[in-house]
Amino acid sequence: MAVTLVTSCASSSRFHFRSFSSSPSSLSSCFVRFQLLSRLRVSFAITPLYCSSKATAHTIAHATLGLTQANSVDHPKISFSGKEIDVTEWKGDILAVGVTEKDMAKDANSKFENPILKKLDAHLGGLLADVSAEEDFSGKPGQSTVLRLPGLGSKRVGLIGLGKSASTPSAFQSLGEAVAAAAKASQASSVAVVLASSESFSDESKLSSASDIASGTVLGLFEDSRYKSESKKPSLKSVVFIGFGTGPELENKLKYAEHVSYGVIFTKELVNSPANVLSPAVLAEEASNLASMYSNVMTANILKEEQCKELKMGSYLAVAAASANPPHFIHLIYKPSSGPVKTKLALVGKGLTFDSGGYNIKIGPELIIELMKIDVGGSAAVLGAAKAIGEIKPPGVEVHFIVAACENMISGTGMRPGDVITASNGKTIEVNDTDSEGRLTLADALVYACNQGVDKIVDIATLTGEIIVALGPSMAGMYTASDELAKEVIAASERSGEKLWRMPMEESYWEMMKSGVADMVNFGGRAGGSITAALFLKRFVSENVEWLHIDMAGRVWNEKKKAATGFGVATLVEWVQNNSS
Ligand code: BES
Ligand code: MN
Ligand code: ZN
Repeated sequence: MAVTLVTSCASSSRFHFRSFSSSPSSLSSCFVRFQLLSRLRVSFAITPLYCSSKATAHTIAHATLGLTQANSVDHPKISFSGKEIDVTEWKGDILAVGVTEKDMAKDANSKFENPILKKLDAHLGGLLADVSAEEDFSGKPGQSTVLRLPGLGSKRVGLIGLGKSASTPSAFQSLGEAVAAAAKASQASSVAVVLASSESFSDESKLSSASDIASGTVLGLFEDSRYKSESKKPSLKSVVFIGFGTGPELENKLKYAEHVSYGVIFTKELVNSPANVLSPAVLAEEASNLASMYSNVMTANILKEEQCKELKMGSYLAVAAASANPPHFIHLIYKPSSGPVKTKLALVGKGLTFDSGGYNIKIGPELIIELMKIDVGGSAAVLGAAKAIGEIKPPGVEVHFIVAACENMISGTGMRPGDVITASNGKTIEVNDTDSEGRLTLADALVYACNQGVDKIVDIATLTGEIIVALGPSMAGMYTASDELAKEVIAASERSGEKLWRMPMEESYWEMMKSGVADMVNFGGRAGGSITAALFLKRFVSENVEWLHIDMAGRVWNEKKKAATGFGVATLVEWVQNNSS
């Protein structure tokens, strides 16, 4: 069903057509309202959201509405390793076998043809074939069955469906998630993973499939219970990969997958955090904590409002102007502790800890104002990537992580529709829509990034609802004038399994961004709205810098799980890693 909402805009006689199609799993559906705001109280101290043993809890003079404090959690590490042993000899809680539909084929005597399944079945006196038939297990994706069968070193055997043929990162990530679900369901502490047909894999795909399974397992085990009064501790302690090889190459791949996964978890925690807890100040605090955690390679520079004024960031500060929570401009720098730096990169993230829309307030359920804590998603992905990079420490590359964090609110001090504001590169903008605020903050962030002397910039933002209309909830849009950079980021996304679709930078649409009074307006209408947003950003990037923009508005939130996806981290880290030497 398509819903069209018409709002009049005070600054012009034109109308904004806000049109969304509503499907149950998409962001445009109507959500249950949070109960939190009905119980308003104020406290005067907050602790950081991400409480690890290494992070220190700071108290900052800032009010937390609703008296909510994130429960401190530590994320227990799982040990991942590779072993070359006979599957029937492994001793532990669950032997998880990834099987394709082809692997389930049986001969004329109803016996498995696949050598691994055949061997297991022989040890189990034919029970595996019987039970899998009874359970109607055929290896389809998403199918899994855990059987308690005597006769093996392992207490249970799990069959996990991979579909017709498993080759994509997401197929193996799903296998990892199924392993996590099975481990949770039976309180398992040790799991072994084997693929029925891994012999046909190249060494390279053995390594990548193992690391994808590992990240699926870590992320599948994670449940964000920081804001619930009760939580469970996951029981899983170790995962052994059988038939994926052994040795340092596998160990490094698994370590890398873990580092990325804990970065993704950090990102999910930032996005899941409600805006009354995660203010711009707290986001900056989280960034500073990363710099102290990785102090040998990372430094933080947090600019307060006054410093942003000195840098003439009028565009960013205009968005922040209505909020009682002051803006914090976050700049983290990663530098390898030794060796020459060959490439300088910047990752820039949209960091709206809340987006009410401002005077062009988000009216009507389609605009999901109650979910707009997710507008921090781009910056959360950038900080998640920073965490992973702090662990991985890639050589030969310097990375700047930049977030112009603020909140888009309404008050007498806020920008009005129709105001003209001036960005730090001197360009003037007529704000014909206060809800097109992300690009206003990114404008000054991109100018700042270019001033760091970087070679390439990737920005990532929950920028427009129009990208959801264009691409739906499964992929993010990507914009760049550089085919070279497009290739790099697409290659990274193919490895990470995060889908990106390259969109056109159609310059003729700039017509829609013309202003009578200023250099440009900030909103060019709904038609091609994600494209005109990208064209707007382009005006703030120096010509000598390669730049790519990701509009991830449709990917930040999983409506079914009512939780953040952690989208972007894996691709950003992979891109940085591929730029290292
Ligand atoms: N933060 C939104 C975009 C968004 C929409 C993020 C849905 C996540 C989920 C952005 O600032 C915005 O408000 N865009 C509006 C403005 C429009 C008038 C251009 C939109 O796209 O609905
Ligand atoms: Mn907005
Ligand atoms: Zn926004």
